[in-house]
Amino acid sequence: MKILVATEKPFAPVAVKQIREVIDAAGYELALLENYKSVQELFTAVSDAEAMIVRSDMVTSDVLNAAKKLKIVVRAGAGYDNLDLPACTAHKVVAMNTPGQNSNAVAELAFEMMLYQARNGFSGKSGVELRGKTIGIHAFGNVGRYVAEIAKGFGMKIYGYDPFVKDEVLKAAGVTVCKSPEELYSKCQYVSVHIPANDKTKKSIGYALLKSMPKDAVLVNTARKEVIDEEGLLKIFEERKDFTYLSDVEPDCKAVFEEKYKGRFIFTAKKMGAQTEEANINAGVAAARQIVDYFKTGNEKFKVNK
Ligand SMILES: NC(=O)c1ccc[n+]([C@@H]2O[C@H](COP(=O)([O-])OP(=O)(O)OC[C@H]3O[C@@H](n4cnc5c(N)ncnc54)[C@H](O)[C@@H]3O)[C@@H](O)[C@H]2O)c1
Repeated sequence: MKILVATEKPFAPVAVKQIREVIDAAGYELALLENYKSVQELFTAVSDAEAMIVRSDMVTSDVLNAAKKLKIVVRAGAGYDNLDLPACTAHKVVAMNTPGQNSNAVAELAFEMMLYQARNGFSGKSGVELRGKTIGIHAFGNVGRYVAEIAKGFGMKIYGYDPFVKDEVLKAAGVTVCKSPEELYSKCQYVSVHIPANDKTKKSIGYALLKSMPKDAVLVNTARKEVIDEEGLLKIFEERKDFTYLSDVEPDCKAVFEEKYKGRFIFTAKKMGAQTEEANINAGVAAARQIVDYFKTGNEKFKVNK
């Protein structure tokens, strides 16, 4: 049984070592295609593979046509828009992702930005503390849960809103349940955003919600820039000098921030929430384990195609 790891941008060597250990222990064979320069190389490598692990590599119908023996492809990571799901289904290939493996990395980044801002970029100017402050967790999924855990350690008062998660789950994590985004934003000085970007959530965080936030409001976005209504955000920045925006990815209106609101924002140069060695290892090893489990027991828990 051949498991191909096809990565245009390779995993860290330590991650490959651990993936190999999982595959060896199952009695399967690992094939590595790293740093490939043409899709032709991928076609050749995948031609006799039963399973494939990818990162951001495109798995198109052409790749699947070349993969005559492929039964399963796993994207090591949460997002899977690089997998052509209908084509996977048409080729009877199970497609999976590895949700939750980078969530701690993303949650830590939210706090890294909050701490850096709270101490004025370590400039020497007196800052503020997080202890005792209110934080609202907007969506209590994999990342939101880690944010709650870290916030607890900082002694923050934690609120959460997620209509798809039972109140008991939030309560068990020490989170006070809010019944609407309006309640969450109006109660919390800090709000950390973790909703997915979809038709319902795109541009859903705008002027009205942000205006309701208490004094010295800090909006932290490690989700997607699309969920923010940037027009409303700019209006708030114009009206409120006490408002700060921390984001893991630059907004489209970045130039306006740079021109007018120096010191009141942090934008990472490149989406880097999941960019840690640990997240890299976790996602790769989870992918290998899911493949082994699928072949040994038929477990399809993380299947994303129909
Ligand atoms: N910065 C990064 O590098 C990075 C990495 C991973 C994920 N992300 C982003 O973070 C988001 C959250 O990731 P996750 O792993 O926690 O996802 P997840 O799927 O585990 O959790 C998403 C949560 O959002 C909730 N939700 C959906 N619609 C909602 C709504 N309208 N209002 C409130 N809650 C709603 C769901 O119930 C779920 O609990 C992802 O969608 C992705 O956009 C960013």
